[in-house]
Amino acid sequence: MGLSDDVRAAVRELSSHPEVTIISHIDADGISGEAVLAQALMREGIRVTSVFVRQLEPLTMGQVPKDDSFKIFCDLGAGQQNLLEEHGLSTEEVLIIDHHVSQDSGTAYQQVNCLPYGHTKLSAAGVAYLVARELDSANTDLAPLAVVGNVGDMMAREDCGLVGLARDIAYEGAARGLIEIRARDLNCYGISTRPLHVCLSYNDDPFIPGISNNAPGAQKFLQRLGIPLRDPIKGWLVWEEIPDEDRKRITSALAQQLLAHGEGISRLFAESYLFPDEPERTPLRNAQEFATLLNSCGRWSRPGVGGSICRGDRGIAYRQAEHMLTNHRAIIRELLHYILDTGVTELSHLQYIHVGNRYPDTIVGIGAGMALSKLNMDKPILIMVEQPEDPDLTKVSMRTTERVVGRGIDLQQAITEASSTLGGAGGGHRIAAGAFIPRESEQEFVRHVNELLAGQYANAGAGRR
Ligand code: C5P
Repeated sequence: MGLSDDVRAAVRELSSHPEVTIISHIDADGISGEAVLAQALMREGIRVTSVFVRQLEPLTMGQVPKDDSFKIFCDLGAGQQNLLEEHGLSTEEVLIIDHHVSQDSGTAYQQVNCLPYGHTKLSAAGVAYLVARELDSANTDLAPLAVVGNVGDMMAREDCGLVGLARDIAYEGAARGLIEIRARDLNCYGISTRPLHVCLSYNDDPFIPGISNNAPGAQKFLQRLGIPLRDPIKGWLVWEEIPDEDRKRITSALAQQLLAHGEGISRLFAESYLFPDEPERTPLRNAQEFATLLNSCGRWSRPGVGGSICRGDRGIAYRQAEHMLTNHRAIIRELLHYILDTGVTELSHLQYIHVGNRYPDTIVGIGAGMALSKLNMDKPILIMVEQPEDPDLTKVSMRTTERVVGRGIDLQQAITEASSTLGGAGGGHRIAAGAFIPRESEQEFVRHVNELLAGQYANAGAGRR
């Protein structure tokens, strides 16, 4: 059996159900994955209702309806099959479409999960797309949404572009004229909306001395190159609209700058995925910014608004999402400053901070990830936050870097093991993971994760010898 067999089996199963409930995750991957599945199923005449949850945990299981509809769990479920079982769901009424590590329970639920087949760089929206395309090849028009999910879940980060099946999906979208793939583009966030010098200064992967975290420095650098930064009508220009020749001049000057500081240039370039049909100078225009827009909807409890945008609403839903994006950015910036101003506590193998009840649990991981590039990047960051709905629970998020993952660190493994030992539950990926733990065990949990990370380093070292 391979992934494509599982995809075919899922399609056979889905075709026999007139009514489906999709339970999906509130992040960009979950929102785009739901939109891919819902649209593909509706085109088959299947009635679809969708529910978004911030995590599958005992508190949110109540949102999973106890009715006759067939249940599809998207971007979640694989790691929480015991909860599905406890909720009374039988194997006949469940399909899991996921890319997280599977924790089997006594009940063998049907899954389409790319991870056991070694596809580590495919998101749930990517898997959903494989199912949609198998339902009908016309569904390749949903490829841009799958690309948004893949990019939003950082599947393009390590390799500076999508790889494997995720890249094939991008090329299918390009073949339909829906995606413009720019190879060796600048590895920078905000290519469609940020003024060029701001875009360059925000980039810290790679860190370019004199430019990263230094907008005036970036502006001078571009002026020295004679690059026009403003248009008399449009105002500040964005990277995407800079002519090819100028873009090449900028990247080669940046490369020289990096080389002059003895830095490698491999991460200067990345493949970017643009959506030519979307309005210019909006976050809808490229996969990275589109994903942030969806995240800002989901993380602020309006995943349905993101879902409407994925279905093409460019009116009310889009205006609401823009508003949420502004708010999302402002609060994350505030959280970032809070982390940096308050400072983290360093243990031997991690650094941690508790933010009390100041920020919602849905965004602390994002803020911690951003703070990491301004802290000791060699140590994973762990952030804790109170749970307003349940004072006995603490939400934990962890983030690290590709470099540290490459040295053998697996946050998902550490957080899952440490949380389950203390009666909590967690999951995620090597580079980003989260958990809920009993509040009284916070200190023990942090110590335990630190020990587990130490063990991972030791094992990786032993393995390399
Ligand atoms: O919430 P956060 O952004 O930190 O989540 C990071 C990753 O960890 C996501 O992939 C999320 O699905 C996973 N996670 C999990 N269980 C939790 C919290 C997060 O599997 N309780």
